[in-house]
Amino acid sequence: MKEQIKEYIEQNKDRFLNELMDMLRIPSVSADPAFSGDVQRTAEYVAERLKEAGADNIEICPTDGNPIVYGEKIISPFVPTVLVYGHYDVQPADPYELWDSPPFEPVIKDEKIYARGSCDDKGQMYMHVKAFESMMKLDSLPCNVKFMIEGEEEVGSVNLGPFIKKHTERLKSDVVLLSDTSMIGNDTPSITVGLRGLAYVEVELIGPNRDLHSGTYGGAVANPINALSQMISSLIDPKTRKITIPGFYDDVIEISAEEKKAISEIPFDINVYKKDLNIDSTLGEVGYSVIEQASTRPTLDVNGIKGGYQGEGAKTVLPSKASAKISMRLVPNQKSEKIANLFADYFKSIAPAGIKVNVTFHHGGEPVVVPMDCVEYQAAAMAYEDTFGKKPLPMRAGGSIPIVALFEEVLGVKSIMMGFGLDTDAIHSPNENFGLFNFYRGIETIPLFYKHYTELKKI
Ligand code: BES
Ligand code: MN
Ligand code: MN
Repeated sequence: MKEQIKEYIEQNKDRFLNELMDMLRIPSVSADPAFSGDVQRTAEYVAERLKEAGADNIEICPTDGNPIVYGEKIISPFVPTVLVYGHYDVQPADPYELWDSPPFEPVIKDEKIYARGSCDDKGQMYMHVKAFESMMKLDSLPCNVKFMIEGEEEVGSVNLGPFIKKHTERLKSDVVLLSDTSMIGNDTPSITVGLRGLAYVEVELIGPNRDLHSGTYGGAVANPINALSQMISSLIDPKTRKITIPGFYDDVIEISAEEKKAISEIPFDINVYKKDLNIDSTLGEVGYSVIEQASTRPTLDVNGIKGGYQGEGAKTVLPSKASAKISMRLVPNQKSEKIANLFADYFKSIAPAGIKVNVTFHHGGEPVVVPMDCVEYQAAAMAYEDTFGKKPLPMRAGGSIPIVALFEEVLGVKSIMMGFGLDTDAIHSPNENFGLFNFYRGIETIPLFYKHYTELKKI
């Protein structure tokens, strides 16, 4: 099967790439309602390609937000069913001026496709459509497959949870397969065995009822921006770099000595890391390695801050309000809602006199860990070994995919995360890109997962 798939990819590689580039030209930004027509068009594009690839019962399922594309190929009740998940929505492309080429006009440069969504997740999702097409054309699809491609991952998948709860029968499957994470390097394949959860809050501080002259009132009236910056900086201990919210770490499970050892064996060059980011030092929780800090430990980061005079030059003003968007990445056993509440209670308690605090909650998501001692993981590991000639390393990701925890909770199935991107692909940033090597290697590896999984499941 391996050789035929490789040959099929070779014969069709330009068409595969052109189809992906056509999809990348549609700006399916889910965060901005101005793009809702494009979001709809992208859903239709995905549905058409799935149909051409040979899927049946294609449906563009409307939701209260963006549609979910569904399609399936059921070949037998006696073989397992793989549920493929991906997302066709993308992050906003701004700031546009920092892109070397326009974000929705894909170009190939240095063997990489540059465009918003090239890696996250259109390029990676499309590998699954083309892997499926290859198996169909070669008459080698070994199991049943169901596709569920959503359009709201980048805004928290709020309508997908209710959708899977409503359609548990239709989505009945033995394993979920997705490519929406990264691997360690092109010669160091890895399988993602964990995701962090997320609690996202917005805080608003209100001082006086109007903006004031900072000379007339300054010194006597609390300034919300002063208060906000002081409160935020007190949330992280300067010595230990631990988060100071009482109870924040109560439910955290420390990783096992075995996992710590496995992480220490992941090839990682701190100098390359620093050089890539142009920083002279990293900064994180004391007592943990950089990889641990960015994947197995919880965090708190300000994502945006607002208040006061933002225009040119200087304006003397003591602002009435200030606000900030704050995310906390969570690790196994922490609960998003509990952490958001702990944050809100504590943050309100540390406000200085004369400041009122409002905390609102945005979307959240629960952390995930995937066991390695199961046929699902083993099948994926065998597939990587077939195409890379090396055993993949297990690695947790620092990012979040909120729906994955629900796959286990609602559908009762494990998720296998076969990411083929790299951390340096600049997802969510200007000049997002995806290597052609990664795109084609993904298409080649996915069918081998189907094959090994179907065989292992039968035994
Ligand atoms: N594909 C990413 C998540 C990701 C990135 C996992 C890199 C592992 C490595 C996903 O599209 C994403 O961006 N998720 C958001 C969460 C969401 C609620 C907006 C995130 O992690 O910030
Ligand atoms: Mn993604
Ligand atoms: Mn993303």
